[in-house]
Amino acid sequence: MPTENFAETTTSISFNQIHSLPLRIWHWGTSLAITATLITVLLASTLFKTKNNISMVQEQLQQKGVTVSANQARSVAHEYSDKLWDTHKIIGYVISFLLLARLIIEIAQPSEQKMKMKIRNASSFQSNNIIEKNEQKHYLFVKRIYLFFYAAILIMAITGLGLAFEDTPWLKDFQKTLRSIHSFVQYIIYGYIVIHLVGVLLGEAGKHKGVVSGMIHGNKS
Ligand code: HEM
Ligand code: HEM
Repeated sequence: MPTENFAETTTSISFNQIHSLPLRIWHWGTSLAITATLITVLLASTLFKTKNNISMVQEQLQQKGVTVSANQARSVAHEYSDKLWDTHKIIGYVISFLLLARLIIEIAQPSEQKMKMKIRNASSFQSNNIIEKNEQKHYLFVKRIYLFFYAAILIMAITGLGLAFEDTPWLKDFQKTLRSIHSFVQYIIYGYIVIHLVGVLLGEAGKHKGVVSGMIHGNKS
């Protein structure tokens, strides 16, 4: 992914985009939190899926001389997946908080580092040079993917919080809808992560060397 920084005058393209310290901390904190939440989803949907462990609980107890029904075994197996979903919920609160932090960072950032300004400047960039024009298109494409990700993760946070507060009377009627939206939008998040990782790694290996380390040291002179 490109690191062009379209200057306010938009007369040239710089390949060193400044990332403020709060944005970098936010970025790596968010990457960690989302990776952790994906691990909970993966484990709860595979190894610890209630359905898959009922017979295992029955067999283990059988070996100790205790016979339990599938229903009894189910409540034991269910505890494990419940624990994972509880962890998922707690990490979900962290992600929701990080999203709020991203909004505050955006408001507090110097004007030229704001996403809105970067997109506006890049859109107004004028050049007859075909290479620069392609860079501009690519830059805007990448920024729009970020906006798409922010919208998707906001939906995950809103629907996730709605599921977490399922006992709130006015939210009870919406649980099914919230769950469907939450389940569906997860695939957008997975898609984003794949595209993002491939994008930054290709950028690092190709035309935009230093893009990844720029997200570590910030590209500040
Ligand atoms: C779940 C994992 C990740 C998520 C959700 C994520 C999300 C994001 C977001 C939202 C941005 C845009 C920040 C902004 O300007 O508002 C971004 C930028 C960036 N990310 Fe990630 N990221 C993840 C993992 C990674 C990893 C593993 C790397 C490095 C290998 C990485 C490298 C970068 C770089 C270099 C940029 C800046 C690229 C540019 O200037 O256009 N990200 N990431
Ligand atoms: C990367 C972000 C996230 C992904 C990929 C994700 C994925 C999932 C999936 C696949 C489920 C199971 C849905 C089903 O039962 O069909 C789920 C449930 C849930 N998620 Fe998320 N989620 C994310 C973020 C969040 C956030 C930000 C919260 C906020 C608190 C949250 C809270 C919940 C809750 C409370 C449940 C219900 C758990 C239960 O059944 O006990 N999730 N999530």
